[in-house]
Amino acid sequence: MSARRPRVWVSQPLFPDLVDRLGRHVEVRATPAVRKHAPADIAAALRDAEGALVTLNDTIGAAEIRGASRLRVVANVGVGYDNLDIAALTQAGIVATNTPDVLTETTADFGFALMMAAARRITEAERFLRDGHWQGWQFGALLGGDVHGRTLGILGMGRIGQAIARRARGFDMRVLYHNRNRLDPVVETPLQAQWVDRDTLFAEADHLLLVLPYAADSHHLVDAATLALMKPSATLTSIARGGLIDEGALAEALASGRLAAAALDVFEGEPRVDPRLLALHNVVLTPHIASGSLATRRAMVALAVDNLLAVLGHGPHANRPPSPIAAAPAIFR
Ligand code: DGY
Repeated sequence: MSARRPRVWVSQPLFPDLVDRLGRHVEVRATPAVRKHAPADIAAALRDAEGALVTLNDTIGAAEIRGASRLRVVANVGVGYDNLDIAALTQAGIVATNTPDVLTETTADFGFALMMAAARRITEAERFLRDGHWQGWQFGALLGGDVHGRTLGILGMGRIGQAIARRARGFDMRVLYHNRNRLDPVVETPLQAQWVDRDTLFAEADHLLLVLPYAADSHHLVDAATLALMKPSATLTSIARGGLIDEGALAEALASGRLAAAALDVFEGEPRVDPRLLALHNVVLTPHIASGSLATRRAMVALAVDNLLAVLGHGPHANRPPSPIAAAPAIFR
């Protein structure tokens, strides 16, 4: 009788040629169409699985893994992992992995582009033209704020924040940042970035970018009080997670002219977008696509597959997953 092959649940349709690599070592339970899985469905899918390849749409916590006695690895396709309860997974001896590095530059490109779109009113101008309002060149039409030579504020100076700082140098920007820990001078000096406290960052930035992870202590970090610190001419851009911003307070600041413009790729109740934001012209809204270049999304899936196979003892990194999340058992870090 042949031994049972480990089972792996793949929660969404990803790139079949990359996911097929799993099939050489494990039995793959694919999900044929994009789905929002109910918690009970996730629990059922994990019950007899050794591994799971999931995305940020799949929330996995204590309830979902309660009956999953064989589960050894949850490989997240994404760098952010607020969809995973790391404490619950760690306590159950399950390794969680994510996909850092491979998406850094693509995500930084998009963050910079969003910030420029907000400052220079690009999507608003396109709507104006498409809606037939353009009567010819007008001296005072759709005047925006400059990006070059202005002060960029980066909240969260991890890999993506640093990649954005590098782009800002080409625009002759002054770069301020706030991070819980100040960067080592070896990293900070070439970026020509200056650490400031959080309130100073809000107050001095002409363009503020949020690139920090979402956690309970960063919930609604941008609210009426922090928005009140910002210059009325400033812009706010977020490519992090929706829960960082009190969207009602932001809509109010944008509607009242308290803040010039914003650009959001992430929302608190995705895919729902607050109707108060949808009604405004001075906010650029995109559907969580900052890492979404074809090459980068493929690299993310390839890394997640490597991570998963590695924890199960297969593939080029057997027993050494390239990117375990910090709380993973020491043997996998
Ligand atoms: C991530 O990786 O966390 C992004 O938000 C999705 O690609």
